[in-house]
Amino acid sequence: MVLVDITNIESTLPTTILGHNFSAPFFIAPCARGGYAHPDAELNFVKGAAYGDILYMASILGTKTIEEIAAARANSSQVLFQQVYLSDNITETQVLFQQIEKLGSKAIVLTVDSAADGNRHRAVRYGVGSADSSYSYLTWDLYKKLSNMTSLPIIPKGIQTVDDARLAVKNGAKAIYLSNHGGRQLDTTPSSLEVALEIYEEEPSIFQQIEVYADGGIRYGADALKLLALGVKAVGLGRPFMLSNVYGVDGVKKVIDITKHEIAIDAANLGVGDLKKIGPEYVNWKSVNAWFS
Ligand SMILES: Cc1cc2nc3c(=O)[nH]c(=O)nc-3n(C[C@H](O)[C@H](O)[C@H](O)COP(=O)(O)O)c2cc1C
Repeated sequence: MVLVDITNIESTLPTTILGHNFSAPFFIAPCARGGYAHPDAELNFVKGAAYGDILYMASILGTKTIEEIAAARANSSQVLFQQVYLSDNITETQVLFQQIEKLGSKAIVLTVDSAADGNRHRAVRYGVGSADSSYSYLTWDLYKKLSNMTSLPIIPKGIQTVDDARLAVKNGAKAIYLSNHGGRQLDTTPSSLEVALEIYEEEPSIFQQIEVYADGGIRYGADALKLLALGVKAVGLGRPFMLSNVYGVDGVKKVIDITKHEIAIDAANLGVGDLKKIGPEYVNWKSVNAWFS
């Protein structure tokens, strides 16, 4: 759309994620082993997120411990979510959940797309194994049991079909996270944009019933806008932040600033005057949706 008043587009970037206020609809996705890029590892993500007033979802497989990550918050009101992989031992899980609650995380992000070790040929060639290298016996029954073990919302990360999104709603999830793990877990799995299109086509009310987050390949403002237009509440960036961390917290801050700027200018060029009002009419979804061809 053209000839739209976009004067205030920048002021419309702030959003809420599960009721918590943030300055923009994107977040730092959970990534293991931040220490590969910088000695301060995940601490730079916590500090960068505080600077940019955005959400950081910390990986349970960080180089820094979850205690060190929590202690790096700017203050106790800085909101972090904690990603987890679980062992088969329910008592250990109970202890972990209690620890996460005590450290002040506001949600648990349960990665559900890694039922087995990822088949990572290049990583194997270079001697880097998958960080989460075992089978996980997760089911929706267990999800419900886990939900009763904590007061925190548990967000399933790695939803890749509308059917799983429906099951998440049925099993009481307050939010879901569309992701194919950055394409690192199973070859040829759909991108979260394809999954968002499938949900939009087959059960669009899901976007109203619960919050939907998405990640994978989001590099530019327009990548984020396509997902937001379909009803996604916030998008995650993994590798851009992991790579930026070579420059430490300054690198992380720079990615945040660039991403905010790009979302604003791309929205303006798209004719969006208020980011909260972006909708599917801004995406030519029929032309990109393989289900219609
Ligand atoms: C180096 C690396 C480590 C990752 N570690 C985790 C992890 O510990 N837990 C998890 O749920 N996802 C993990 N992911 C997946 C990310 O959360 C996210 O889904 C993915 O990186 C998004 O795609 P993008 O990198 O293209 O932005 C990892 C991704 C990368 C690149």
